[in-house]
Formats: sequence, C-alpha cells, structure tokens
Amino acid sequence: MPITNLKDLLLDAEAENKAVGAFSVGNMEMIIGAVKAARELDTPIILQIAEARLRTSPLEYMAPLMLAAAKESPVPIAVHLDHGLSENTVCKALDLGFTSVMLDKSLLPFEENVLATRRVVERASRYGAFVEAELGVVGGSEGGTVSHEISCTDPSLAARFCERTGIDALAVAIGNAHGNYPALPQLRFDILEKIGKSCSVPLVLHGGTGIAPEMFRRAISLGIRKINIATANFDCLARSAKAYAEKADKPDYFELSKAMVDGVYENVKKHITIFNNDWR
Ligand code: 13P
Repeated sequence: MPITNLKDLLLDAEAENKAVGAFSVGNMEMIIGAVKAARELDTPIILQIAEARLRTSPLEYMAPLMLAAAKESPVPIAVHLDHGLSENTVCKALDLGFTSVMLDKSLLPFEENVLATRRVVERASRYGAFVEAELGVVGGSEGGTVSHEISCTDPSLAARFCERTGIDALAVAIGNAHGNYPALPQLRFDILEKIGKSCSVPLVLHGGTGIAPEMFRRAISLGIRKINIATANFDCLARSAKAYAEKADKPDYFELSKAMVDGVYENVKKHITIFNNDWR
C-alpha cells in the first residue's frame, strides 16, 4: 500500500481514543520486528529514526529500508524523521520520501522556534508531508547526545505556537524524558489537560520507555495520539541478542538476526496493545 499519511492515522486514533506507536529503528532487524508486530495485531504504526541516530544508521541507508517496509505492508505505516535538529536534515528526509518530519528547535527561545518551524512547515507542504514540533523541553538524552533538563510546555503558549507555525502535531513536555527513568515519572496531567483544551492539533508524547500502562491510558484520554518508543526498542534488541550469544554453542549470524527481530517484535507488540487502549 502507499506510504500512509500520518494525519490520517492520527485522525483515526482520535476517533477511536487510541494512540499510534512511533517506534525508533536503527537497522533492518528492528524494522522487520516492528512491522511483524503491526501486521500481527493489524494495527498501524510509525517507523521513525532520530537525527542523533544517523551517526550509526545513515539516513541514506535507512530511508530505503523504512520506505520499502511501509510500501510492502498490508497495514498502514508512516515513515517519520524524529528530532530533526537541522533544517538540512529535515529537507534530506523529505527528499528521500519521508511523509512526516519533526523539527526540534525546543531549546531556542519561543520566537526563534516559531520562525524555524514555520520555514519547515512551508517546505514540507511542497511534499504534502506532516510536521511535528516541540514546545517546552522533553528531558534526558535522545541517542546519547547532551542530556537536557525538563522544562514543561507553557499551556498559555501552546495554542499560539500551533497557530503561528501551522504544525500538524505538537510534542509536549509534561515531565517526560528520553531514556530509562530512574523512577516512575510524575507526569503533569494537569498541564496536558490545559494544552489539550487549547490546541486543536494531535499531541505527541516522547520518552515513552518506562511509562506505566495506566499513565499511557490517561495521557491518551487527554489527547495524546502519538507515543514515541526508542530506548525500550534498542534495549530489547540488545538483551535478546545477548541472551542468544550466551546460549549459542557457536556464533550463527542468522540466529543472531532472528534474536534481534524477536526482541523488537515483543516490545512493539506489548506497546501496541497498550496504545490500542483496549480494556477488554
Ligand atoms: P524513549 O527513548 O524514552 O523511549 O523516548 C523515545 C522518544 O521520545 C524518541 O523521540
């Protein structure tokens, strides 16, 4: 099927009070594992890669794999650039065929964030692509880069940011952080509720690894429609590969590849089940 437009996926999620899982990938096994879970559960997903990961997984190699997986899939799959840090990288992803991009200028002052994001929205519109941006600062470190302090999104600025930039989705900072949380995070649902009431675009929750199922469900009930999972995906692959290596009599690439696929498949399946918000 043609690569899915993220806008349609998030509108469907809104209608069904669900969220779509956005799973970070860094190699072919991760793509295969994520798509296998999506197909099995007949649930759309987003395959994404962040700019910080391109040092080990070059965009020119990853893009064709991700796009091919989406085109081959019988369930809708969108292909997204996560945390684009430079406008150059965002443009490269659009040229390579990504249907969705994030520009992350959240560390800049409000006005500069607005101007840079608006430029990307204008550029993406020529490709019919979807744009996500961040207001406030999600904590932690995406891809081992500098770790950031959490700075919650100011709800009084959120609607103005969406209107002035013309973005399609807003990544919120509500106490969430990238990486493994040292303890269960205290998410600011009060802030999320205010943002949800004032903004008409779908909201995105970053830092999904380690958030409890009931917290995901509450976030979904308050307007979160896209949830990002990266660390858990990489950790599950690494743990599964390690377990294989420890029990293998002799190294076998094909078994190792299968272990990596299985690790990601289990993780994606677990999260899809939660994000589908199915209480039965
Ligand atoms: P985690 O690494 O905490 O799952 O966060 C993923 C993320 O938000 C990617 O943008």
